[in-house]
Amino acid sequence: MRKMIIAGNWKMNKDIKETFDFLLPLKNNLIGQNLNVEVVVCPPFTSLFIASDILRETNIKIGAQNMFYEVEGAYTGEISPKMLKSVRCEYVILGHSERRRYFGETDEIVNKKVKKAIEFGLKPIVCVGETLEERESGETFKVLEKQIKGVLEGLTYEQMRNVIIAYEPVWAIGTGRNATPDQAQEAQRFIRELVAGLFNDGIAQNLTIQYGGSVTPENAYSLLSQPDVDGALVGGASLKVDAFLKIIKAGETASVEKKN
Ligand code: 13P
Repeated sequence: MRKMIIAGNWKMNKDIKETFDFLLPLKNNLIGQNLNVEVVVCPPFTSLFIASDILRETNIKIGAQNMFYEVEGAYTGEISPKMLKSVRCEYVILGHSERRRYFGETDEIVNKKVKKAIEFGLKPIVCVGETLEERESGETFKVLEKQIKGVLEGLTYEQMRNVIIAYEPVWAIGTGRNATPDQAQEAQRFIRELVAGLFNDGIAQNLTIQYGGSVTPENAYSLLSQPDVDGALVGGASLKVDAFLKIIKAGETASVEKKN
């Protein structure tokens, strides 16, 4: 049975004080609860150290929002997988559409990052998704296929066990217009079938595929109860403790239902 993962991508939000103000109540709310879902928070780099300190001895995991594919050296402004490990990161978001759009990341670059992350024991949350223009011209599957093949190029079966995919349609990110449960299910089943063809069925069945794009407490359950939606990568709604807790709860309910 694959693991449901609810991850909060804070993007470029929250300084140190705001990190405290969010994580203390989150921790207090979840403490002692034996959840089926894995809860991950992905603060900006400047808050990773303090976040991992606050969340020490809890089940809440830490992820970064990006990393470089080299380990150290003259790469001004970059952060390496070794550094992320040293602040006890377990996850790293790679290839987010905002990285692709504003910072020129390509599938090839993301592929290098995925391999390096796994080499250092980090679990990459690899983002794929079509733009509105691509969806409207009927190219969604074609775009997803190209991205999935590109970002997973050359990975071994063993490496694939550590990969998480996030299907994030670009038109749904930060727009308040989420994919419908049917749209998410259709795209995510396509991704799973693609991975089965590229690797094997066992790997595809174990692969956690998250949905991301305007996930809210209101729509979370209907999305997460879809058979191929194994979690959420939440932006805006992950910045407020109450909203994030409700999404975690929706994930927990959906996860328990899928088990039975
Ligand atoms: P929103 O939930 O704000 O739409 O952002 C989604 C996202 O990009 C998560 O990585």
